[in-house]
Amino acid sequence: MDSQFWINAWNEGRTGFHQADFNDKLLQYFPQLQAKEKQKVLVPLCGKTKDLLWLRDQKLDVHGIELHEDAVKAFFNENQLANVKIENTHHFTNYTSEGIRVSTGDFFKLDHENYYDFVYDRASLVALPFSMRKEYAEVIKRSLKKGGKCLLIVYEYDQAKLEGPPFSINDDEVHRLYNDAFIIELMESQRPLKEGSRLMTLDESLKQKVYVLEKK
Ligand SMILES: C[S@@+](CC[C@H](N)C(=O)[O-])C[C@H]1O[C@@H](n2cnc3c(N)ncnc32)[C@H](O)[C@@H]1O
Repeated sequence: MDSQFWINAWNEGRTGFHQADFNDKLLQYFPQLQAKEKQKVLVPLCGKTKDLLWLRDQKLDVHGIELHEDAVKAFFNENQLANVKIENTHHFTNYTSEGIRVSTGDFFKLDHENYYDFVYDRASLVALPFSMRKEYAEVIKRSLKKGGKCLLIVYEYDQAKLEGPPFSINDDEVHRLYNDAFIIELMESQRPLKEGSRLMTLDESLKQKVYVLEKK
């Protein structure tokens, strides 16, 4: 999925992945990670997810990264975040307000090594085709501190029945990407209750899988 695919998706309003409420699996599993005040959480490919607000309300230092600047602007406007500060760094334009920073630019250019305590990945890895996932996982790996944890939410289904994104990610794929650097724990595997309308057209074989990865 090149950048243009996502720019078109936002421009044409094809944003069925966006959730009006906080993600239920974030609410269920993130508290188990026992984050402490001011720890840093990275939200890759964040769109305009409200989950950034929930993470901020846990008193975490929240950093989202999103390609499409309009999505970033929409996030701050729609949530009435005040006094948004905008600054340019080498690869990104950073929008900051009320404990949330969202950088607009290409996630693959992120170069914060051993910096974050947590990663929250919902609809991010699954947004990428096979050819881009290894590099994506490398960025996640180098960005997290040792002992840092990633809450990863993916979908598994018969890829022949639906064209991604979101792509189907099975257990082998999660292990292929992360096994070298993470302890991988599958927390649950169930049909999601509510998801974007494209996914919900799939039969019972659709599973939403939640993993906790801990960096070795
Ligand atoms: C399926 S959406 C998920 C958004 C968000 N995680 C959520 O739960 O609503 C994937 C997002 O990734 C963004 N994206 C795709 N490639 C990117 C890249 N290389 N760098 C930063 N963002 C990217 C897209 O613009 C899109 O908003």
